[in-house]
Amino acid sequence: MEKLVIRGGVPLAGKVRISGAKNAVLPIITAAILAKDTCYIRGVPRLADVDAMVQLLNHFGLQCTWNGDIVSIDAVNLNNFEAPYEHVSRLRASFLVMGPLLARYGHARVSLPGGCKIGTRPIDLHLKGFMCLGAEISTEKGYIEAKVKGRLKGARVYLDFPSVGATENIMMAAVLAEGVTSIENAAEEPEIVDLANFLNSMGAKISGAGTNLLVIEGVSSLKGTDYTVIPDRVEAGTFMVAAAITGGDIYLENVIIEHIEPIIAKLEETGSKVIYYEQGIRVIGQEKIMPVDIRTLPYPGFPTDMQAQISSLLTKAEGTSVITETIFENRFMHTKELARMGADISVEGRVAVIRGVREIHGAQVQATDLRGGAALILAGLAARGETELYFIHHLDRGYERLEEKFCGLGADIIRAEDLKKVTIA
Ligand code: EPZ
Repeated sequence: MEKLVIRGGVPLAGKVRISGAKNAVLPIITAAILAKDTCYIRGVPRLADVDAMVQLLNHFGLQCTWNGDIVSIDAVNLNNFEAPYEHVSRLRASFLVMGPLLARYGHARVSLPGGCKIGTRPIDLHLKGFMCLGAEISTEKGYIEAKVKGRLKGARVYLDFPSVGATENIMMAAVLAEGVTSIENAAEEPEIVDLANFLNSMGAKISGAGTNLLVIEGVSSLKGTDYTVIPDRVEAGTFMVAAAITGGDIYLENVIIEHIEPIIAKLEETGSKVIYYEQGIRVIGQEKIMPVDIRTLPYPGFPTDMQAQISSLLTKAEGTSVITETIFENRFMHTKELARMGADISVEGRVAVIRGVREIHGAQVQATDLRGGAALILAGLAARGETELYFIHHLDRGYERLEEKFCGLGADIIRAEDLKKVTIA
């Protein structure tokens, strides 16, 4: 089993280039199913999750090839509409193929994605949207089947919650529907805007992306395109916290300031200095970390995907911070691992109370999920002594060359093969 060995106490300094956004690339890759010829997608990070999605499209008969950070996808030979369990269980975002398959093929059969550690991750809003558009939905043996005779019909869809995935799936189903679709209470995340821009570059007619009202005028077909995805705002936030927690000075290039405003605002409240440049931002950590209260919300609120990372910073604040996780029901698993490093955190349901301590120390800990794993690296970078982080496959899902980028900033991290069997309770 691989582990990361992190020696803390080094203030990180230097320049890091942020990769393309995982949560933009995943829906954009599925949207390529809709094109009648080849799509070129640039700025694609080499991540396990992206690899899994590319493999799924190959399973459908599409020709996908990676060339550096460019993925080309030729959807001409689409000959399968079933996403099997072994794919979907590896990557729950595979469920995003349902909308494009339904739109292009009139039929989709996708294994139920199942929950994951951070929550049950229901798909009821996705299915509600497909039914509004005229699809017939059935479930059997753990598979969801969606069918429609002829084309989907444009309709008004109201989302009870501004679900990112539901907004994306329904938008992709609606682009080839007959007539106009409106999605009300739509998600406003930058990744939704990126997907809408990608689809519009293929000839779709989508307006309102980035607001809570999306209007999609169905068209008869979509062509291939050449598109560069947005930078990853969560990776950027992770490195911003790295500067803050180590008292370092990091320049991040390839960021879109507007996308990371909520993170900048909160980091400045903790005392970090943020300097804006033409092509990036500089974050300078301070000796004193002030406590802050955080409430995760849909964009443009503070992102749930940054909650674990900032909670690591707050373990060393001079006071008590309260974090309320309003998006997922079980996204505090990393706090038990932080406690092994000397953090003082108590969790009650969706609220974590963090009483700052002067110092945290290295320990053997395990990544509980993708962002929880990132949080533990950040804690290890600021801890006294050595931290061993296990279950690092979670990290490879969503961060490209993470330890290499940290080492480029002066961090003392090595990836090692751990021969003894680890059974952490
Ligand atoms: C996307 O997940 C992201 N993943 C998540 O990032 C991110 O945390 C999340 O959006 C929120 O921003 C990708 O884009 C691949 P949701 P998604 O549907 O689409 C409820 C990471 O670390 N809900 O907005 O699954 C659901 O239970 C990952 O990169 C329903 O009730 O998120 C949850 O409480 C983690 N019914 C809330 O909405 C539905 O049909 C948010 O889910 C769908 C969702």
